[in-house]
Amino acid sequence: MAPKRPLSGAAEEECQMATVERPRPAARDIPQGTAYGRPSQHPDAALTQVGPGTPMGELMRRYWQPVLASRNVTARPREVRILGEDLIVFRDGEGRPGLLYPRCMHRGTSLIWGHVEADGIRCCYHGWKFAVDGQCIEQPCEPNPRQCRPEHRQPWYPVAERYGLVWAYMGPPERMPAMPRFDAMEPLEEGEDYLAFDNSLGSHGDINGPEVVPYSWLHMNDNVMDPFHVQVLHTTFSGTQFVREFEVMPKCEFEEIAGGVIYRAHRDLADGRHQERVSTWMMPNIMFVPDVAMRAGRPNGIGISVPVDDTHSRILMAMRTPRSPDGKRPMRGLEAENFKPWHERTLEERQDQPGDYEAQAGQGPVSLHSEEHLVTSDKGIGLQRRMLRRALEMVAAGGDPPGLSFDEGTVTHVPSGNFYSG
Ligand code: FES
Ligand SMILES: [Fe+2]
Repeated sequence: MAPKRPLSGAAEEECQMATVERPRPAARDIPQGTAYGRPSQHPDAALTQVGPGTPMGELMRRYWQPVLASRNVTARPREVRILGEDLIVFRDGEGRPGLLYPRCMHRGTSLIWGHVEADGIRCCYHGWKFAVDGQCIEQPCEPNPRQCRPEHRQPWYPVAERYGLVWAYMGPPERMPAMPRFDAMEPLEEGEDYLAFDNSLGSHGDINGPEVVPYSWLHMNDNVMDPFHVQVLHTTFSGTQFVREFEVMPKCEFEEIAGGVIYRAHRDLADGRHQERVSTWMMPNIMFVPDVAMRAGRPNGIGISVPVDDTHSRILMAMRTPRSPDGKRPMRGLEAENFKPWHERTLEERQDQPGDYEAQAGQGPVSLHSEEHLVTSDKGIGLQRRMLRRALEMVAAGGDPPGLSFDEGTVTHVPSGNFYSG
């Protein structure tokens, strides 16, 4: 070690100056509220972690979750990630959808390389064939290829189709509820058909946008009980993105209903009419937003914010629409005039007119809930999160969470809609 050298006279003076106490500024001159020394912040893990065995993961698994639009489940196997699990989805030659664990139970290659036949999917490596319920039905290299042992069963999940979507039940088999049905979606009216999307269209308004969005399922879930952002983000900030009615700041009431939360947004319109717009959220991630073109009556669609994993989600939608040969989503209000595909917009254009994608991606992959400041206008989000927390406790205690039915005939009433008076 080098020996300590005495400080020179100049250095000693400098050192003394550094320790001289500076005059303190008057209190009014001290900058307040700076970012310095702020505490570290964190997400609410109980609401955002969705993998197997996590509290929210177990809650989500008690409900049927949509996986893809039916038309995208074909004889070509496809990888999907849902609730933090990687799976293979396909449709066998008889038209039955299947959802399997991807690693072949024989020696582990992926079924993404399998070929689909009339009664199942055949692994590329040694030809084991699995039915949509995972049962192995052929092992061609064995002495008796069709005498498969019953325990040779590829892990699988039950799937079924409704409203143009393929849904899966990934929870404990003995607790499997009936598939959900809603009066907003059925029966179809004369000339209507279901049109379903699995490409997170509701988040960015673009058929070519990101199919999976890079943020937690909770971002979009919060958004549906947030009627005020419609007036700010979609109207005054970005120019009217939907309809002129949204220029009026609504007066809102929030209310808990069985298995969900609703808001009633009241607006006195320029033409003298009074509008009550009712939006519905249902456990645990279902959204019924009334028609934004403000047509009266029941909503024409369902949206579901499905967790892909903790930091990604997929928004799936199904709509009742007049039969249309092109299969394209009908444009909404002024969106039809101003539409420029999201994937063609420059950064500057997105800064000039941010939409739901920008606002929600801006919250980060998982929001930092500890630094949120929820206020009066966030009451709906508070009610949702309280209901979710109560449901987490119910499941942890061995019970069934709200909003489930075990009767296939149950059709849940959805109070959403645009209602007019005056
Ligand atoms: S690894 Fe699939 S059949 Fe052998
Ligand atoms: Fe929005």
